[in-house]
Amino acid sequence: MRLLRLGLSLLIMIVLNSVPSESAVSSIDLGSDWLKVAVVNLKPGQTPISIAINEMSKRKTPALVAFQSETRLLGEEAAGITARYPDKVYSHLRDMLGKTYEQVKEFLDAMYLPFDVVEDSRGAVAFRIEDESGNVSLYSVEELLGMILGFAGDLAEFHSKVVVKDAVVSVPAYFGQAERRGLVQAAQLAGINVLSLINEHSGAALQYGIDKDFSNGSRYVVFYDMGASSSYAALVYFSAYSAKEFGKTVSVNQFQVKDVRWDPELGGRSMELRLVEFFADEFNKQVGNGIDVKKSPKAMAKLKKQVKRTKEILSANTMAPISVESLYDDRDFRSTITREKFEELCGDLWDRSLVPIKEVLQHSGLKVDEIYAVELIGGATRVPKLQAKLQEFLGKNGLDKHLDADEAIVLGSSLHAANLSDGIKLNRKLGMVDGSSYGLVVELDGPDLQKDESTRQLLVPRMKKLPSKMFRSIILKKDFEVSLAYESNLLPPGVTSPVFARYAVSGLTDASEKYSSRNLSSPIKANLHFSLTRSGILSLDRVDAVIEISEWVEVPKKNLTVENTTTTSPNITLESDKNTTEESDVNFNSDGVNENLSNNIVEGPSTTELATEKKLKKRTFRVPLKIVEKTVGPGMPLSKEYLAEAKRKLEELNKKDAERRRTAELKNNLEGYIYSTKEKLETSEEFEKISTADERKSFIEKLDEVQEWLYTDGEDATAKEFEERLDSLKAIGDPVFFRYKELSARPTAIKVARKYPGELQQIVKGWETKKPWLPKDRVDEVMGDADKLKSWLDEKEAEQKKATGFSTPVFTSEEVYLKVFTLQEKVASVNRIPKPKPKKNESETSSNNTNNADSTSGETPEKEKQTTDSNGSADEKTNPDGSAYDEL
Ligand SMILES: *[C@@H]1O[C@H](CO)[C@@H](O)[C@H](O)[C@H]1NC(C)=O
Ligand SMILES: *[C@@H]1O[C@H](CO)[C@@H](O)[C@H](O)[C@H]1NC(C)=O
Ligand SMILES: *[C@@H]1O[C@H](CO)[C@@H](O)[C@H](O)[C@H]1NC(C)=O
Ligand SMILES: *[C@@H]1O[C@H](CO)[C@@H](O)[C@H](O)[C@H]1NC(C)=O
Ligand SMILES: *[C@@H]1O[C@H](CO)[C@@H](O)[C@H](O)[C@H]1NC(C)=O
Ligand SMILES: *[C@@H]1O[C@H](CO)[C@@H](O)[C@H](O)[C@H]1NC(C)=O
Ligand SMILES: *[C@@H]1O[C@H](CO)[C@@H](O)[C@H](O)[C@H]1NC(C)=O
Ligand SMILES: *[C@@H]1O[C@H](CO)[C@@H](O)[C@H](O)[C@H]1NC(C)=O
Ligand SMILES: *[C@@H]1O[C@H](CO)[C@@H](O)[C@H](O)[C@H]1NC(C)=O
Repeated sequence: MRLLRLGLSLLIMIVLNSVPSESAVSSIDLGSDWLKVAVVNLKPGQTPISIAINEMSKRKTPALVAFQSETRLLGEEAAGITARYPDKVYSHLRDMLGKTYEQVKEFLDAMYLPFDVVEDSRGAVAFRIEDESGNVSLYSVEELLGMILGFAGDLAEFHSKVVVKDAVVSVPAYFGQAERRGLVQAAQLAGINVLSLINEHSGAALQYGIDKDFSNGSRYVVFYDMGASSSYAALVYFSAYSAKEFGKTVSVNQFQVKDVRWDPELGGRSMELRLVEFFADEFNKQVGNGIDVKKSPKAMAKLKKQVKRTKEILSANTMAPISVESLYDDRDFRSTITREKFEELCGDLWDRSLVPIKEVLQHSGLKVDEIYAVELIGGATRVPKLQAKLQEFLGKNGLDKHLDADEAIVLGSSLHAANLSDGIKLNRKLGMVDGSSYGLVVELDGPDLQKDESTRQLLVPRMKKLPSKMFRSIILKKDFEVSLAYESNLLPPGVTSPVFARYAVSGLTDASEKYSSRNLSSPIKANLHFSLTRSGILSLDRVDAVIEISEWVEVPKKNLTVENTTTTSPNITLESDKNTTEESDVNFNSDGVNENLSNNIVEGPSTTELATEKKLKKRTFRVPLKIVEKTVGPGMPLSKEYLAEAKRKLEELNKKDAERRRTAELKNNLEGYIYSTKEKLETSEEFEKISTADERKSFIEKLDEVQEWLYTDGEDATAKEFEERLDSLKAIGDPVFFRYKELSARPTAIKVARKYPGELQQIVKGWETKKPWLPKDRVDEVMGDADKLKSWLDEKEAEQKKATGFSTPVFTSEEVYLKVFTLQEKVASVNRIPKPKPKKNESETSSNNTNNADSTSGETPEKEKQTTDSNGSADEKTNPDGSAYDEL
């Protein structure tokens, strides 16, 4: 019921785009381990906001990509081979964005991940992937992530059955500039248009607030999220303000993120690793002989997989078993662990888990009891000890678990996506104000510059509202460099140098020289324009040189009434700079032209009376300067060329994937056909009536033959080969199945046909009394046709009786239906012949006035009226101003 209302309301809310099917947008919650996708889709009959489930009907998908013998696998398929090929299934890619090679290497070792990695030219990591023929390809983190995001996009499209290009992607608050830019590039590679990145806590806050009203009271809510790899606490203030809308005062709900604090390395994974280490040690002890299972990546992959399950079991039970078949060296591993032991193994993590929430409170100056609620999200918050620890800290103020721990972020993010898209209007409004996770500074450097307060300035204070535009102006004459950096007191995890972007700005030296001889009314300045996007990415967008000049110029006297003087306005020759824009005066000339000024004012009878005066003119020139990004290091964005090449590679892989899927599907079809056909032939007695024993035998032989091929040579056959074989089998099977179908269909059709002439007689009888005007010849014609139908049936039935059931049927049920239908149509058209009207002028006039120009003189008036009616009302019901909107 509620869902239905939701569906209706959103549907009505659409401000109908010309192409409604393009109004689907998605949100992607890209976690360290998992991927969740939600779709906002306005297609009738679908839930407006829903989770896109994967091919295994799961609501979350492993964020994995694997390469195995020429095949790329994604999601569940990749997860399926993790234990066998731990070196080929790439995981935790999100956490490697913007990191140096060394950092990633260290991380991989700690996680027992045996990936083959090398350092790329940026100093970031590149994955070495070798195919069966020994060809090596290198993939960046962005490329592999692009594949995963592309898969997320496919899920969205498969789920909604429409093209979904726009998406909001959620990121952890601690993501720095390099991570955010890298993720956007990865999405770009996948062909996804990122409407915006959204901080995870904002997604959760949106989901929390969308169905609440804060006009009766504002509140502070803390969102505590512990996911697979990290945790954070975000303090969010929900309130309402009054606004005028269509002249009415309405209350608008909103939230503002006040603060967010995190631990980028504390997550469910930290606990799992403790278990892994514990069990590995136990196994080593069980086996003895100095065996170290930790040295075997395969064994560790198996162990890690089982440990996840053990941890889950421990959330609900006080004891959990672990069992891994042939963990190492064909030895099975079996053990148990108590919850108590688990909690002891993670002893130091419990206090650490409180740190983000403590920090958030401390920095806000709020006391625990001023917090309205602490909402838990993220899979790892299901761990009982963690909840107990939080509970203990919060005292009587309990924990709230109103939100879906797994899906709150992706669902909330989808609301943001809908809000940002053009085609969708949400009736329920919730204003969102999030801020920059980091304080950001700008630093200028150049030959002319003395380092002081003016060359290093705070540009974005921490938690500054997203999006924002910033402007800085500095007195400067020479080309210079701009660096953007984090405030040094808080850096993103793993970042060692605060500078995250560098730009070389040029053109200022030239501009200064060019104007140096002029009467400058103020020193030359550089104006810098920055933007901090909704995604939290800061960039230098534009730099202008600003040159202000005051000069005396001679101008014709204003009120000189020289009638026939052609005051040729001198050519505007702005020296070399085409891009120079002049603000104050179009009449500006270069010096050379200025000298000729008097000569240029020419001729005509009144030349002699020409008078000029001197005026002090103030002009401002803005010269756009050239900006070249020179960022270096692992956070350096991929070049245009690299991106183009990567995109090509990715599309190639997608094509191969599609081909592989098609092959699998065709193979499946062939298998299915063989199986079901054999079963039918062997079990249904009806087939004996329509096929000879020989025929069946040879067909089954043929089926067996192809089946044999399927499991031998056909194992790795191409799509085409499967298709060809299926076609050849169908060539034999189709006529048989057709006869089989006709066996029952034909008698049914005949029954219908035989009944009709009787019905027709009744109709004709009715006409005689009710519609005496019907032309006799037309009535006779249909009666004649009915007789013809009867004799056709007699003839065909006799023929069919003579024929064997094994040959092609003499006639088909379809032919019978067609004949009956044709006759019925004819009867209907006779029935529609209108009563002739008395012939009068008046009636002619009125018939001329029929505005229904298309109608073929009233032949089908009723039918037409109906169709126009239904169309018309459909249009009318689309309420353009939306006053009938339901609430979401
Ligand atoms: C390696 O790849 C290149 C280009 O993709 C291809 O031309 C070449 O045949 C491959 N080599 C082998 C041994 O497959
Ligand atoms: C707001 O408070 C008033 C009075 O306390 C109550 O009648 C009203 O239902 C409340 N509105 C909401 C939206 O909670
Ligand atoms: C939706 O858009 C409006 C207008 O741009 C903005 O004020 C509001 O904060 C947005 N809300 C969300 C949840 O994106
Ligand atoms: C230069 O500009 C100042 C005003 O800024 C003006 O007073 C002065 O006359 C100008 N000098 C020349 C040579 O144009
Ligand atoms: C132009 O000059 C004449 C006298 O020369 C004066 O009467 C008139 O008001 C002036 N017009 C304007 C618009 O200044
Ligand atoms: C300018 O003078 C020419 C002849 O010299 C004359 O033909 C023309 O009409 C004049 N134009 C105006 C606007 O007075
Ligand atoms: C403007 O420039 C064009 C071409 O450079 C030239 O033909 C023309 O005479 C110039 N006009 C004036 C008023 O200088
Ligand atoms: C002005 O500069 C921009 C980039 O700096 C360039 O794309 C544009 O073509 C230039 N315009 C002209 C008229 O030179
Ligand atoms: C009716 O329409 C025909 C052609 O459509 C026209 O020739 C005739 O004059 C019209 N008669 C009247 C009464 O409008």
